[in-house]
Amino acid sequence: MARIISFLNPKGGVTKTTTSMGVSAGIKRRGFKNGLCESDFQLSIGNWYVEGVTEFDVIATTTEKAIYSIPKALKEYDYIVIDGLANNMAMTAAILMVSDLVIVPVAPSPMDYASMSALLAAIEARQALKPLDARFLITKKKERSRLTKMLREELKGLGLPIMKTQISDSEIVKYATAEGKTIYDDRSSAASKPRGEIDVLTKEILEILNG
Ligand SMILES: Nc1ncnc2c1ncn2[C@@H]1O[C@H](COP(=O)(O)OP(=O)(O)O)[C@@H](O)[C@H]1O
Ligand SMILES: [Mg+2]
Repeated sequence: MARIISFLNPKGGVTKTTTSMGVSAGIKRRGFKNGLCESDFQLSIGNWYVEGVTEFDVIATTTEKAIYSIPKALKEYDYIVIDGLANNMAMTAAILMVSDLVIVPVAPSPMDYASMSALLAAIEARQALKPLDARFLITKKKERSRLTKMLREELKGLGLPIMKTQISDSEIVKYATAEGKTIYDDRSSAASKPRGEIDVLTKEILEILNG
């Protein structure tokens, strides 16, 4: 039975897609059979995916039925990462139903609490049914930024723990994506920091799931 990790936030631009691709590569590199499910009907990953370059399988799951079917249809995988989508609570609820770990990426910019509050309520309702680990992940963090400190304070009041790993704001990450690669494929020394962060994040995720 695959363990399912999903990246959810109704807000766009918080690195759900980029981070789920990085973590998918990270899990694959640890020797597991891993697939990345794309829930957005625009299939941005499917278009980006380069056969023979991308190391993990990319699976389109763009309907609620496809999401609910993931545990059964993809049970031969060790891990499944689901890249969530913005502004679709019906799909988000379906993703919550099948997830073992939910990661809510948040960037240190003024936050959209109105859209987040529905997600947090849905997570709480799902946790009342059966165990679900859900955590915030701080992304696009800028060095010495007061905004990051403020974000941390605000997140503390929202009831979910915060992942130890943080993802820094990085230009290099954007270039890798543009070339159909993840940060693991960029072996330049400049990429070592963002690569290291995704590696540590992957490790933290696997530790959470495996106790
Ligand atoms: N670590 C990062 N630092 C800076 N920009 C990033 C980082 N990760 C992703 N981005 C950029 O932020 C934008 C939104 O990322 P994306 O992964 O598409 O977010 P979402 O899926 O939440 O909408 C993209 O332009 C992407 O290249
Ligand atoms: Mg996305």
